[in-house]
Amino acid sequence: MGFKTSLRIVALSLALATHATQHDVLDFVNPLIGTINGGHVFPGATLPFGMAKAVADTNGAELQGGFASDNSDIVGFSHMHDSGTGGGASLGNFPLFAQSGCLNGELNNCYFAKALRASKRINDTVIAEPGYFAVALNSSINTEMTVTNHTALYRFTFPSTPKPMKITDKGSVPNEPLILVDLTDLSNSRSRANISVDDRTGRITGSGTFQPSFGIGTYTLYFCTDFQGAEIKQTGVFQNNRAGTHPKHLQTQADGSSKPPVPAGAFVQFKRPGKHNEIVARVGLSFISTQQACRNSANEIGDFNFNSTRQKARDAWADKLSTVRVDATGVNKTLQTVFWSGMYRSMISPQDYTGENPLWKSDEPYYDSFYCIWDSYRSIHPLLTILDPVSQTLMVRSLIDIYRHEGKLPDCRMSLCKGFTQGGSNADVVLADAYVKKLNDGIDWKTGYEAVISDAEDEPPIWSVEGRGGLASWKELGYIPTDDFDPYGVGPFTRSISRTVEYAYNDFCIAEMARGMKKQGDVEKYQKRAENWVNMFNKDQQSTVQGKTFTGFLQPRYLNGTYGFQDPTFCTPMLNFTSCYLNSNGHETYEGSSWLYTFYAPHDMDALITTLGGPTEFVRRLQFLHDTPDLLYMGDEQGFLMVYLFHYAGRPGLSSFYQHHYIPSLFNDTVVGIPGNDDSGAMGSFSTLAMMGVWPVAGQDVYLINPPFFPEITITNPITKKKAIIRTIQFDASYENIYIQSAKLDGKPYTRNWISHDFFVQGGVLELTLGKEESQWGTRQQDLPPSMRKNHSR
Ligand SMILES: *[C@@H]1O[C@H](CO)[C@@H](O)[C@H](O)[C@H]1NC(C)=O
Ligand SMILES: *[C@@H]1O[C@H](CO)[C@@H](O)[C@H](O)[C@H]1NC(C)=O
Ligand SMILES: *[C@@H]1O[C@H](CO)[C@@H](O)[C@H](O)[C@H]1NC(C)=O
Ligand SMILES: *[C@@H]1O[C@H](CO)[C@@H](O)[C@H](O)[C@H]1NC(C)=O
Ligand SMILES: *[C@@H]1O[C@H](CO)[C@@H](O)[C@H](O)[C@H]1NC(C)=O
Ligand SMILES: *[C@@H]1O[C@H](CO)[C@@H](O)[C@H](O)[C@H]1NC(C)=O
Ligand SMILES: *[C@@H]1O[C@H](CO)[C@@H](O)[C@H](O)[C@H]1NC(C)=O
Ligand SMILES: *[C@@H]1O[C@H](CO)[C@@H](O)[C@H](O)[C@H]1NC(C)=O
Ligand SMILES: *[C@@H]1O[C@H](CO)[C@@H](O)[C@H](O)[C@H]1NC(C)=O
Repeated sequence: MGFKTSLRIVALSLALATHATQHDVLDFVNPLIGTINGGHVFPGATLPFGMAKAVADTNGAELQGGFASDNSDIVGFSHMHDSGTGGGASLGNFPLFAQSGCLNGELNNCYFAKALRASKRINDTVIAEPGYFAVALNSSINTEMTVTNHTALYRFTFPSTPKPMKITDKGSVPNEPLILVDLTDLSNSRSRANISVDDRTGRITGSGTFQPSFGIGTYTLYFCTDFQGAEIKQTGVFQNNRAGTHPKHLQTQADGSSKPPVPAGAFVQFKRPGKHNEIVARVGLSFISTQQACRNSANEIGDFNFNSTRQKARDAWADKLSTVRVDATGVNKTLQTVFWSGMYRSMISPQDYTGENPLWKSDEPYYDSFYCIWDSYRSIHPLLTILDPVSQTLMVRSLIDIYRHEGKLPDCRMSLCKGFTQGGSNADVVLADAYVKKLNDGIDWKTGYEAVISDAEDEPPIWSVEGRGGLASWKELGYIPTDDFDPYGVGPFTRSISRTVEYAYNDFCIAEMARGMKKQGDVEKYQKRAENWVNMFNKDQQSTVQGKTFTGFLQPRYLNGTYGFQDPTFCTPMLNFTSCYLNSNGHETYEGSSWLYTFYAPHDMDALITTLGGPTEFVRRLQFLHDTPDLLYMGDEQGFLMVYLFHYAGRPGLSSFYQHHYIPSLFNDTVVGIPGNDDSGAMGSFSTLAMMGVWPVAGQDVYLINPPFFPEITITNPITKKKAIIRTIQFDASYENIYIQSAKLDGKPYTRNWISHDFFVQGGVLELTLGKEESQWGTRQQDLPPSMRKNHSR
């Protein structure tokens, strides 16, 4: 619905745009994908990695991204959000809400509290585009929004004849628009706040202290709201559903009993709407002070010009997406939309808060909303490394600076706070990935190495929010015992299996960095520890599913070395699906099953394949994982790599087969078009990378080669300006020819089924000849991707 409308508007703005051709791909970005059924995508206006993210906030069960494509009511328009989170709802602070006037001209007949002002949207008025969002409410007020980096800009268009807010309202409404600022956030987490309104200018400033959505501590945010376009009638503050024109300032604290906190805020009422029935509101944001919030908005949108701000936001997105060009001849529009929308969503977070970090002084960049690295290390950061290595470099520098000042790398971070760790210390993988791909502009690798060593060696007192737990056992026994004795720190004593395999991979990543830094002792030490994934493997454990039996699974293991039991299908959609979340009682695998985690040793695949019975048996088991309904959940990020492990067993064709199995059946262009939480764009990065035909094995200089979903893709490296071209021969848009028959790199035969990052840095032409049947290409031992114990020198 909304998207169709949006295409019309896009066409209009295209005609107006100066660089029309650059903007073509923005037509294929549909920000509303994943805005219901658990996707939790933020569909509003943002710049790439911007701090300001404006959207209409709903009050239903799926308000994590602010707006949801459901029938919930809208309670305001707020300026900051996270996208795709599985935890609580982040941010959404200080929403604006507009009314045409107060019934019978009585101030107290306006609706101040969130619950009272909640209004239905008019369904087909929703428009979502890069840098722009609009929706009309049943009050007939249309609200449009756009942003710069730290400022949100709203354009309210009032009806010529005001309508009462409620169908039950009796009387008339004078045309005296009122716009309020509410000292709330999406999760009603406010503890203290301030607000002031200037009676002469209508400027509303203030601050509030709130809680992060998936972490510990609090954060304080400041804002500065200015209005333009109409003459002021009166101003004041409100508390509960009562308002007055005196005083002009209000300070509020949690009273210890009101949940949610007592509604409070300020308002400006106008004599009438301005030209074209419009009023513009500009909201500057800062984590430093109200003064800085006001400075940000004045610097970024001095002229209140909505159209030009919107155009600049569009240009910023066109520019970001311009590193990729595709020949889309014959390719279904649905697939093109999946491709570009996924790329777009991968660039919403982490958010650039440089200059807005009150926690420490530093010349380094500061990014926030690493939400969470457990989700993003697998594909978001590797995708950014290809498309936007400059931003990825800044993010890595920022992670290292967080280590410098907080003592540990984060696994999850939002709103200046430490977020919950889900498994390993996976920032180690992000750092190693950047290291082996030779990102270096300003990265202090010495401190970066110190940071990953700290994860591996020094257990923090609260390992629920950073680092690793169970390190004493890890060093001594080589696994995290299910009944671990760990008097050195606290965290949820669960996930012993998944933490073990993730710690093993994290240690491999450290070994790679050590190799690059010529620290031979560390290479040996961490490579040895990287073999630990096998220590919880019970070779006798069987799992029988649909009459087929498989033997050998990761299992709980005690301090005394004996194995326990967790049904290998436990925590699949088949059996107690949601029992392995962090906030449930917790079991030995995190958000997935032993069936799944038994496949996780991306650095030691040769040994894993042998352990699971050799290539044929491995392939049989992996196919069974994909083919059996409800055994594998693709709505969680650990599923991604499972699609591509066939490469390691000499069957790259099956990787191609299964990626077509999931796209577009689970990744499509509808509002339900992703199978799980987007987690800051992780689902989007999966489909985009899959369709590019290069699957990154995060943490290694390895991309597994598959036929792209387009006849040809060109990626221009923003730093070297070199072009990496992936070209197909015998491409067929109905995807029968999905098997590589032969390949050439720069005109020479290429038989390896993987390629390294040099391709994207130095450029080149990778030419893939496709056919209907699996071929011999990429199947020989020497064609397989590297494996620690086979060919670790690479
Ligand atoms: C608007 O859309 C929602 C979600 O599709 C639907 O539940 C609701 O009935 C629609 N409302 C109207 C007035 O059509
Ligand atoms: C927004 O911030 C980015 C850095 O994250 C910067 O490159 C960009 O120029 C800024 N955009 C505008 C419009 O100022
Ligand atoms: C608008 O929607 C709200 C919430 O459902 C409802 O209370 C109100 O009566 C509606 N107003 C009009 C004019 O339909
Ligand atoms: C509210 O304002 C007072 C005085 O300006 C200030 O001391 C206090 O820190 C503010 N509170 C918050 C939550 O910002
Ligand atoms: C802004 O753009 C809209 C079209 O999107 C146009 O109708 C309107 O006149 C423009 N306003 C200004 C002030 O340029
Ligand atoms: C495009 O693909 C979608 C999803 O597979 C399908 O429903 C649709 O019919 C296709 N459209 C065309 C024009 O082939
Ligand atoms: C090992 O420890 C587990 C868990 O405490 C216990 O159930 C099991 O009986 C022990 N096995 C032996 C052989 O002591
Ligand atoms: C698994 O689910 C069943 C049925 O809902 C429930 O009775 C049982 O307690 C669950 N088991 C665990 C270990 O969560
Ligand atoms: C689109 O994706 C969703 C979520 O994965 C899935 O439930 C739905 O069936 C898909 N729709 C189509 C038309 O393939």
